[in-house]
Amino acid sequence: MPTSPTPLAQLPVRRLALEDLLACADLSENRSWPREEHKWGLLLTAGTGYGIDDPEGPGLAACSVVTSYGPGLAAIGMVLVAERYACQGLGRRLMRHVLAEAGDTPLTLYATANGQPLYEELGFTETSRSEMVRGRFTFAAPAPDVPVRPATAEDLPAILRLDQEVFGLDRTHMITRLPAFSDHLRVAEDGGEIIGFAAAWPNMDTHVIGPLIARDPGTAQALIASLATATDRPLRTDIDVRHTSLLSWAKENGIGTVTTTSVMVRSLPDLPGDWRRRFAPLTVAAG
Ligand SMILES: CC(C)(COP(=O)(O)OP(=O)(O)OC[C@H]1O[C@@H](n2cnc3c(N)ncnc32)[C@H](O)[C@@H]1OP(=O)(O)O)[C@@H](O)C(=O)NCCC(=O)NCCS
Repeated sequence: MPTSPTPLAQLPVRRLALEDLLACADLSENRSWPREEHKWGLLLTAGTGYGIDDPEGPGLAACSVVTSYGPGLAAIGMVLVAERYACQGLGRRLMRHVLAEAGDTPLTLYATANGQPLYEELGFTETSRSEMVRGRFTFAAPAPDVPVRPATAEDLPAILRLDQEVFGLDRTHMITRLPAFSDHLRVAEDGGEIIGFAAAWPNMDTHVIGPLIARDPGTAQALIASLATATDRPLRTDIDVRHTSLLSWAKENGIGTVTTTSVMVRSLPDLPGDWRRRFAPLTVAAG
């Protein structure tokens, strides 16, 4: 006797592995997102991927990735449902699974306008907004004269200390991947003390700047300008809208707004750390 197919919203959710990278990139492409295979590689190795297999063939019907920062926070990203299965409850099914797995751990994510209603329904609230900016850096508006140089292996302990102070949680498992994941990792100094750092990593035809941690907006500008000299590609980064002076300086330098996303939290009044010194995430998919 033929068995009737499992209703979509009851399809099992499975853990993803690095072998699922191309299926994840296919899903990105299916939703007109860039394939971002380099980023998927980081997220599937440093984080935990969840997926629902396409019941009608090879590939994934839905996916998402969770990057854990211990009991204090986990970041959800890359929530995607294949176009042909949209609006049939798969996004809700996957998110409910991820929330159940997370238990009491507070959560954060950057929501697109598409995803925001679902996240609100699931208990997320907006804590801030973020501007995705992109463009060829023109060097029209100069940055302050803060010394910036390529990071060395000896800088790593100081970078980790500063990152933990500003991010508010230990991100060693992500920050120590930066020398391999990024093309350029630079530090800003004041009298021998590291007062900021930033990475530029390759993504499709751009270099993404992130994380960007700095003592003040001028130091953040110096780091961006220094990274801009290291690449011919357009730059992309995601800056909290509260950093108005950095955003206007970026725009003067040809780095304009592409879209705005909502920074959301769940089981947490606000993100830990110091937003004043946190200018850009490593990626919006991992916080
Ligand atoms: C956002 C997304 C993951 C939702 O998944 P989905 O399986 O289509 O959503 P569901 O069927 O589970 O619906 C859950 C809720 O999402 C919202 N939603 C779903 N599709 C929507 C759409 N096209 N526009 C606006 N809201 C939508 C609705 O609030 C819906 O609740 P309802 O069914 O009571 O109306 C999916 O549309 C998608 O992959 N979009 C492109 C990628 C993206 O923007 N991801 C979010 C990243 S933060």
